[in-house]
Amino acid sequence: MGTSAPNEQIPKIPGYAFGSPESAHSPLTEKDVHELEQTIGWTEEDAARLQQHGDVFREQAEAMVDAWRAIIGSQPHLAHWFNGPYEKPDLDYKARVKPRFVQWVIDTATRPHDQAWLDYQEEIGLRHTPAKKNTTDERHTAPMVPLRFLLGFLPAVSDIRRFLQGRISDEATLQAVERSWSKAVLIEVTLWARPYTRDGLW
Ligand code: HEM
Repeated sequence: MGTSAPNEQIPKIPGYAFGSPESAHSPLTEKDVHELEQTIGWTEEDAARLQQHGDVFREQAEAMVDAWRAIIGSQPHLAHWFNGPYEKPDLDYKARVKPRFVQWVIDTATRPHDQAWLDYQEEIGLRHTPAKKNTTDERHTAPMVPLRFLLGFLPAVSDIRRFLQGRISDEATLQAVERSWSKAVLIEVTLWARPYTRDGLW
């Protein structure tokens, strides 16, 4: 698995550790990743298609995150994981996580599946678990997001049609981009599940 170009621009977002020594290191091998990609049906065409439409994702990333957050905010059992002591919403926490979430949309659409990418998937997974949740932003919210909600949120995050409409006019291309995006997200969230599972069971 290759590494990102050394002079590549890594955005300066507080707590965003992509490609930095602060990121966790994934114990997975290139073979593990390739087998998962194959299982999900991810191909070079998917990677190229998302990259080609990188500008659409860059333009729409914040609107996507706002829409997903509205869903979380509307369900108290989901909003709970952003609340501090006494169930008080931690608005600073939400504000700090948001630019990283927006950057994730762009990364997922445009970054190659290289070692830095794989390592950051391990990091994002850990940031949803007691090992690292709250640590990046020094918060005191609930200590983890249960795995079932990460998995359960996949349809919401996969449904990006309304963000592509009007920007990709060809219907077949639009559907293909949607499918490639869904696969990209499924690969990542499956990688995030690794730190939740007992050794050898992932
Ligand atoms: C498909 C499902 C999900 C995706 C794609 C996703 C994506 C992300 C991303 C990209 C980040 C920021 C990573 C970084 O720090 O660079 C993040 C952090 C976070 N997410 Fe999720 N997430 C998902 C599900 C959920 C759910 C269901 C909840 C709770 C209702 C949740 C709560 C959080 C919280 C609290 C953080 C901040 C963790 C910290 O303390 O660092 N996520 N998520």
